[in-house]
Amino acid sequence: MAGLGLAALALVPLASSLTCWRDTNCTGPTDTAFPGPWEANNFSPASRTVSPATVFSLDDTSATTPYRGTSQLEGNGTALVYDFGIEVGGIVTVKYSTTGGSGSLGLAFTEARNWIGLASDSSNGAFGSSNASLRNNIDQGCNEGALHDYFTSAGNHSYTMDLPHLRGGFRYLTLFLLTNSSGTALDINDVTLEIGFQPTWSNLRAYQGYFHSDDAELNKIWYSGAYTLQTNNVPTDTGRWIPALTSGWANNGTLSNGSTVIVDGAKRDRAVWPGDMGIAVPSTFVSIGDLESVVNALLTMYAHQNKDGSFPEAGPPLLQQGSDTYHMWTMIGTYNYVLYTNDTAFLQHIWGQYQFAMEYVYKKVLQPDGLLNVTGTRDWARNQQGGNNTEANMILYRTLITGSSLATWAGNSSLASTYTARAETLAGNIIKNTYDTAYGAFKDNNTDTTLHPQDANSMALLFGVLSNTSSQAQSVSERLTDNWTPIGAEAPELVNNISPFISSFEIQGHFTIGQTDRALDLIRRSWGWYLNNPNGTQSTVIEGYLTNGSFGYRNYRGYNYDSSYVSHAHGWSSGPTSALTNYILGLEVTGPAGSEWRFAPQFGDLTSVQGGFMTKLGVFQALWNVTDGGRGYEASWKVPEGTTGSVTLPSLPAGCDGNVTWNGRHHGRVGGRGGMKSGAGGGWHNVRVVPW
Ligand SMILES: *[C@@H]1O[C@H](CO)[C@@H](O)[C@H](O)[C@H]1NC(C)=O
Ligand SMILES: *[C@@H]1O[C@H](CO)[C@@H](O)[C@H](O)[C@H]1NC(C)=O
Ligand SMILES: *[C@@H]1O[C@H](CO)[C@@H](O)[C@H](O)[C@H]1NC(C)=O
Ligand SMILES: *[C@@H]1O[C@H](CO)[C@@H](O)[C@H](O)[C@H]1NC(C)=O
Ligand SMILES: *[C@@H]1O[C@H](CO)[C@@H](O)[C@H](O)[C@H]1NC(C)=O
Ligand SMILES: *[C@@H]1O[C@H](CO)[C@@H](O)[C@H](O)[C@H]1NC(C)=O
Ligand SMILES: *[C@@H]1O[C@H](CO)[C@@H](O)[C@H](O)[C@H]1NC(C)=O
Ligand SMILES: *[C@@H]1O[C@H](CO)[C@@H](O)[C@H](O)[C@H]1NC(C)=O
Ligand SMILES: *[C@@H]1O[C@H](CO)[C@@H](O)[C@H](O)[C@H]1NC(C)=O
Ligand SMILES: *[C@@H]1O[C@H](CO)[C@@H](O)[C@H](O)[C@H]1NC(C)=O
Ligand SMILES: *[C@@H]1O[C@H](CO)[C@@H](O)[C@H](O)[C@H]1NC(C)=O
Ligand SMILES: *[C@@H]1O[C@H](CO)[C@@H](O)[C@H](O)[C@H]1NC(C)=O
Repeated sequence: MAGLGLAALALVPLASSLTCWRDTNCTGPTDTAFPGPWEANNFSPASRTVSPATVFSLDDTSATTPYRGTSQLEGNGTALVYDFGIEVGGIVTVKYSTTGGSGSLGLAFTEARNWIGLASDSSNGAFGSSNASLRNNIDQGCNEGALHDYFTSAGNHSYTMDLPHLRGGFRYLTLFLLTNSSGTALDINDVTLEIGFQPTWSNLRAYQGYFHSDDAELNKIWYSGAYTLQTNNVPTDTGRWIPALTSGWANNGTLSNGSTVIVDGAKRDRAVWPGDMGIAVPSTFVSIGDLESVVNALLTMYAHQNKDGSFPEAGPPLLQQGSDTYHMWTMIGTYNYVLYTNDTAFLQHIWGQYQFAMEYVYKKVLQPDGLLNVTGTRDWARNQQGGNNTEANMILYRTLITGSSLATWAGNSSLASTYTARAETLAGNIIKNTYDTAYGAFKDNNTDTTLHPQDANSMALLFGVLSNTSSQAQSVSERLTDNWTPIGAEAPELVNNISPFISSFEIQGHFTIGQTDRALDLIRRSWGWYLNNPNGTQSTVIEGYLTNGSFGYRNYRGYNYDSSYVSHAHGWSSGPTSALTNYILGLEVTGPAGSEWRFAPQFGDLTSVQGGFMTKLGVFQALWNVTDGGRGYEASWKVPEGTTGSVTLPSLPAGCDGNVTWNGRHHGRVGGRGGMKSGAGGGWHNVRVVPW
């Protein structure tokens, strides 16, 4: 028996290291699809149970020591800060022993280093205070308090948080002693965290995509987006409780059916937000590959469609209503999911509801201007929404274009033609009524407003409302840089704020029209700034921040000057992950499950890039190198047999004409300016281009 006991003990760490969340069935992948040295950039822990990386005293935050497992608190109010080194989330267990009298062990959480202390950063949605005089830009956060484990006498104690108090996102855990008796001391013997996110995966590092380049910072940015998305895939019974609690927090809300669902943020709101998914889902597809969380999110939106055909702005338990833009994002999200999976059973299931949703929103197009007149005015936080808002019309254009593809896939070609015709008419009306020729970019609506928003202009490029070869598109791209600060693009429609969500559209817009250097510049100044910020998580992407470099996003616009409320792991800011794969690596799917694809690498200042992702048809992978100091390049890519693609070979970085060798055969000439377009089938392809 003794021998058996020992063997079992020895197995415990191994067995517990590869588990799914609690009683969840393991339906996720068990291993990465692309093993290799790039996995060193993967932030995700190797085990579902983790311990902190380092410890420091709250009084002297400079003296950091490695997590040793033993530390002492002595006297009332003493505190140690446990730093996990990356964003984490879940259920903490602390084993400790005490001498002396009674007291309590306190636990307080924060994502950003700014709010370490005896109270947690904000997450419950109530905000610090409605006291108007506090709105004078004073940070009033951290009113959620802490968890407490009370002990009455000396001895050994073990505390595990209960499930409703799951903390969805934090990096720092402050442990502190409260006691009335001066002789009480507390030894912390063991701190562990059971990770709650990505519940159906036994191996949290089993990514189904990868990206690796000669730029170490871009690689980290790609992986910080991917890891953020993992922290946003949560057990479906751990949504934030609504109505908002006035103190403390509860993550016991039901979000959807199934075991896992994608929400907007790790800490908060912990609800399905379809607009956020417009960035989060394309990035999910090329990186972690978890589309089970996505379909559960979409199904909950369809399950809560209103009688008039509209969708809620957010999923349950929040179920906020009244957003035309987020209504349309559920529809665009439907397209994205079917594009990535060819889940035709899902499409058939929702197809009637989808068409009802289309009629609901298209009815709002008014004459004579022929633009969507927004009446559901909630949106991503822009200062003004309503009327013939240009951003909403860009989103309607995208809804119609993607709706046309869905109609084709659903076998309804006449409806597909109707949607395409509506889209073309709408694009003309948008340009005619909202393009400001004198300024060279779109206005915020069809009035004489002087506001030229970041969102609509970025989307005009990305969604193709302007042809990507037009001089208007080049002008819009250039005008967008007027908003740039050293740490990112200020959104004129949310003054003083930098939105990595809207900037995720902007970078893709620049890439779409071939402004590679501009897109890379913005990625580095904005996402690079946050990743290197010592107060941030250094592993995830932030919801937003201010142009003055503080984290107080939306302080005057809904967040009540509570900077600690801002989420530091928000999937809507993960745009560089899909952008680097789709435009820099250059590989993108354009037909269901990748039956059709596009390969069109962009070099920028990079010299060596590789990456890939999976669909149910198989592996999509590409590698390219700039050679001979920019005087040549070689590219290889592999796509499943039976698929077809369009290939755009860029011109040589040095600008001269290039001689193309394709799979060992001479294949013509790449012009100094234009590049070369070609069709291709499945399998491995290799191309070498050298000066003519
Ligand atoms: C787990 O899988 C089993 C067997 O397929 C099924 O009966 C059970 O309902 C699943 N549990 C959950 C929580 O989905
Ligand atoms: C113990 O410390 C806490 C936190 O600093 C403080 O609020 C409380 O008043 C102190 N209690 C005593 C008895 O000093
Ligand atoms: C980090 O936060 C602290 C405390 O709020 C602040 O004093 C410091 O300036 C911040 N550092 C940076 C780089 O923002
Ligand atoms: C509001 O906050 C200010 C500044 O802290 C304070 O002086 C004032 O008493 C508060 N008012 C109320 C009603 O709490
Ligand atoms: C606490 O646990 C330690 C071993 O971990 C043991 O030596 C000690 O006797 C225990 N103390 C009490 C009061 O149970
Ligand atoms: C969730 O927690 C809150 C706060 O404790 C509580 O009021 C609510 O009833 C709980 N909901 C469920 C479904 O347990
Ligand atoms: C157009 O939208 C505005 C609000 O954004 C609304 O007040 C107005 O009634 C709408 N017009 C029509 C005809 O629906
Ligand atoms: C047009 O846009 C401007 C800038 O956002 C805004 O102030 C104004 O209210 C809008 N007008 C209408 C009619 O929507
Ligand atoms: C939107 O444009 C239409 C003209 O197509 C106009 O009738 C309507 O009043 C505009 N909406 C607002 C709120 O200005
Ligand atoms: C997509 O699914 C449909 C129905 O199952 C099937 O007929 C079609 O061949 C699939 N397409 C691809 C590219 O797998
Ligand atoms: C091409 O790039 C890959 C990495 O992307 C690298 O391993 C390989 O050595 C490079 N080959 C050449 C010829 O530069
Ligand atoms: C272009 O490449 C082909 C195939 O390698 C070769 O036969 C031909 O001589 C090259 N032409 C020039 C001008 O380099």
